[in-house]
Amino acid sequence: MPERHATVDLGARVGELRLANPLLAASGCFGYGLDYDPLLPPEVFGAVVTKTITPLPRKGNPVPRLMETPAGMLNSIGLENVGLDAFVETKLPALAARGLSPVVSLSAGSADAFAAMARRLADAPTLAIELNLSCPNVAEHGANFATDPAAVEAITRAVKRDFTVAPVWVKLSPNVTDIGLVARAAENAGADGICAINTLLGMDIDLATGRSPFARVTAGLSGPAIFPVALAAVHRVASQVTIPVIAIGGAASAADVLKFIAAGASAVQLGTALFSDPGLPARVLDGLAAFLAERDCASLDALREHWKERAS
Ligand SMILES: Cc1cc2nc3c(=O)[nH]c(=O)nc-3n(C[C@H](O)[C@H](O)[C@H](O)COP(=O)(O)O)c2cc1C
Repeated sequence: MPERHATVDLGARVGELRLANPLLAASGCFGYGLDYDPLLPPEVFGAVVTKTITPLPRKGNPVPRLMETPAGMLNSIGLENVGLDAFVETKLPALAARGLSPVVSLSAGSADAFAAMARRLADAPTLAIELNLSCPNVAEHGANFATDPAAVEAITRAVKRDFTVAPVWVKLSPNVTDIGLVARAAENAGADGICAINTLLGMDIDLATGRSPFARVTAGLSGPAIFPVALAAVHRVASQVTIPVIAIGGAASAADVLKFIAAGASAVQLGTALFSDPGLPARVLDGLAAFLAERDCASLDALREHWKERAS
């Protein structure tokens, strides 16, 4: 470990949670937490968000489901997952055996179904729950929740009513006119954090057929291409709510993570960049430590103070 790590504390506060560092693995980009071990052990992260779980197992969408773009990726996975029962019975215990509690990402078709999933997790080792209200790649539900403040409020309220053992975060879609409005609806309903953002709506065309290669026509765009959009969304959300904001979208360097923190994020999720660069989290931590040390900041809070002084 480089010497400068010894002089700074990269610990992050996300509401009541204390994380060893501000990096989280984003949902859908790190399996169930142990899938990349030992290439990328989950302990590198402050926390891991698991692949979104639905009440029943899902096969996901037909292939093709992934496509590279010049600065990112299109995906149409369609929430393939093992379902809540198998997740609780096999995936959570495997993580618990490593001493790890993940942030569990949930998706369901109604407020009641979300609440029922949360109830099932009440006794499980769970650091927080992330409500995925914004998956663009499924027909039944998903994107429409995060575009409707009333739905966001109802789902958040229902989960908060039934799940009181850990924070409840609400993950929002950028595919709206004002993400701040939706974030406020989540905060009003008792959310403990806002995760912003999920993928942007994107598409490709296969020139042999003149049609989209994806069975569901559109797909979710992620990766460096969406970083500026995510940064603006995080800035907007942070100006509208008092609960912590967890940034997601295109982060691929220590500089990106620092920009998210400056825009108001308490923590930052890494997603698409992990697919091509499993060494990224360790390098980002090293970069954060160097940035802090060069400014004589002993912690991320000290860096926030440093920025405040420089701005005034
Ligand atoms: C292949 C793939 C699968 C994803 N699956 C999920 C998912 O199951 N649940 C979810 O909330 N977000 C999912 N996402 C979205 C990411 O968590 C993240 O919000 C988005 O990709 C933007 O961050 P990034 O640009 O750092 O990847 C997925 C993204 C990708 C690329």
